[in-house]
Amino acid sequence: MEFPFDVNHLFSERISVLDHNFVAGPKFLGRADLQTHIATVIDDLGRASAKAQTLSAPVTSASKLQSQKHQLYVLKDGEGSRNRGREVVVGFLKVGYKKLFLLDRHGVHVEAEPLCVLDFYIVESLQRHGFGLELFGFMLQHKNLEPVLMAYDRPSPRLLSFLAKHYCLMQSVPQVRPAAPVFPPAHNSLPLASVGPLLRPVVNNFVVFDGFFLNKAAVQ
Ligand code: ACO
Repeated sequence: MEFPFDVNHLFSERISVLDHNFVAGPKFLGRADLQTHIATVIDDLGRASAKAQTLSAPVTSASKLQSQKHQLYVLKDGEGSRNRGREVVVGFLKVGYKKLFLLDRHGVHVEAEPLCVLDFYIVESLQRHGFGLELFGFMLQHKNLEPVLMAYDRPSPRLLSFLAKHYCLMQSVPQVRPAAPVFPPAHNSLPLASVGPLLRPVVNNFVVFDGFFLNKAAVQ
């Protein structure tokens, strides 16, 4: 992804970690232009990710990042002939802690606050070149975490394939109870037949894998 400004001025490292301040450091103090350029990069990446996932609206934007306690890992690349020596933004990974009510293997509710993968995108022309793995691996090192201990927000088929290939994460723990009938409470004035059995609702859209519930630190 190219921009009409030099991304090197914005991101000095190959992988930069942004939070609600965008980038901490003296370089950005009083430089509204740099902050605006970073916001443009985040907004464009968020829109491209939403389009790739056919979402109706981006889950990542500069304004959302400013108001939430999430972290954005941004990868740039410029080495070699592929980009004619010009730095480009390759993609991003957004993570954050979320309080979740999950079902374990036995269908028992468990409260947990794991680090979650919230958004992940590599520009189309650079997918399947190992950039996603580089970004994800950097985040795991930065957080000192195993991927099995994380939760994944509505993972796309591509992310599921990515996790299976690189981290052998294949067995997810279902987050929907079997369709057991649930009858309304006795004080409900409607006759049972007119209401019928209700299906228990989907608990949430997060996916966790076998091994997640072994983490005593994240699971209460
Ligand atoms: N179809 C199926 N699997 C894919 C695809 C694809 N088009 N692209 C990547 N993968 C998976 C495969 O397992 C692939 O291995 P293979 O080529 O041997 O089949 C593996 O990822 C490749 O690994 P990397 O090259 O390291 O991954 P990449 O740089 O492509 O990044 C990512 C992976 C981020 C999922 C990327 O494909 C992408 O941006 N996809 C579109 C957006 C998306 O679906 N993001 C996840 C949203 S869900 C969420 O964030 C919680």
